[in-house]
Amino acid sequence: MVKAVVLGAAGGIGQPLSLLLKTNPAVTELALYDIVNAPGVAVDLSHIATPAKVQGYLPPNDGLKNALTGAQVVVVPAGVPRKPGMTRDDLFKINAGIVRDLATAIATTAPKAFVLVISNPVNSTVPIVAEVFKQHNVFDPKRLFGVTTLDVVRASTFVAEVLGDLSLSQSITVPVIGGHSGVTIVPLLSQSSRPLPENLDKSTIDSLINRIQFGGDEVVKAKDGTGSATLSMAYAGAEFATKIIRAFKGEKGIVVPSYVNLTQEGGEALKKELGKEIDYFSAPVALGPNGIERINGLGAITPAERVLVDAALPELATSIEKGVSFIQTPK
Ligand code: NAD
Ligand code: LMR
Repeated sequence: MVKAVVLGAAGGIGQPLSLLLKTNPAVTELALYDIVNAPGVAVDLSHIATPAKVQGYLPPNDGLKNALTGAQVVVVPAGVPRKPGMTRDDLFKINAGIVRDLATAIATTAPKAFVLVISNPVNSTVPIVAEVFKQHNVFDPKRLFGVTTLDVVRASTFVAEVLGDLSLSQSITVPVIGGHSGVTIVPLLSQSSRPLPENLDKSTIDSLINRIQFGGDEVVKAKDGTGSATLSMAYAGAEFATKIIRAFKGEKGIVVPSYVNLTQEGGEALKKELGKEIDYFSAPVALGPNGIERINGLGAITPAERVLVDAALPELATSIEKGVSFIQTPK
């Protein structure tokens, strides 16, 4: 039995993500919570002929608590998206409080659930969730995930485009590490499951890296003030949630990049590799029934990739500190 909960289920990501979770036969219960419209979305999805029993919840009558009761997986896409000209960090002002309040409800109602954070800025919102859980003495780093899968999905797509064959995109995997914004997004192209041609010129490689790092801006610009990536994010979020559920149900050998707390198996070794005392980083993690079993290291990265990692660390450290101090020393 797997109960999945979506917090922010009526939004641009929330609706298609809920649809994809409803089509996952492993999900037996699907609770949709939002401050608006969630019951309508739930009734709509409930007519789809798949096993999940769907229920929608609004804030009144303990809606959040009821949605979360008994949850194994909680996916959080609640919060405002970017408009052109904004950074993800510009969303902190509004989204930090939303994520803090939702994390408080998860910590008190479903402290053992796997928590998958989509709300931006992910580099700060994941530390916010961790700090709230610590305050409630229920923090388990193995169960908290920043969802960076969209960067991985983009890397597969854009590499396939460079190779001139989109049909390859589903079989190409490229580890993307670091964090989820601009220069903190570090694609390890040298570890692509399908190697790039050796004679590929430097400018093509540089623009490929830049496109993976700033793919979000491409969508924000094209949507022209109406939001950011929603459909590709829903696809990526459902992919990630599906892997968490498969590992929870006992499947072995699942390894995915995710932005995680480094105070756990493999974290110290990774910090040594990074050469920095940092508490969160996105790296490939091995999953098991209890969440993260081990954080993997960087592998054999090239000198050019090392430069990208070093460039990511200062911004990451600042974003982490911002999230932590939002909870530890609220203004
Ligand atoms: P949206 O505005 O379409 O939807 C957000 C939903 O959150 C709305 O339905 C809103 O009612 C709901 N909401 C607001 N406050 C809430 C609360 N306290 N409790 C429950 N629900 C609440 O936005 P969107 O396009 O779906 O994006 C949502 C978030 O996801 C944004 O912060 C965006 O930046 C982020 N995002 C992250 C990634 C990623 O790769 N991690 C990708 C795309 C978008
Ligand atoms: C993305 O990468 O598409 C998301 O983080 C949304 C954004 O603001 O770009």
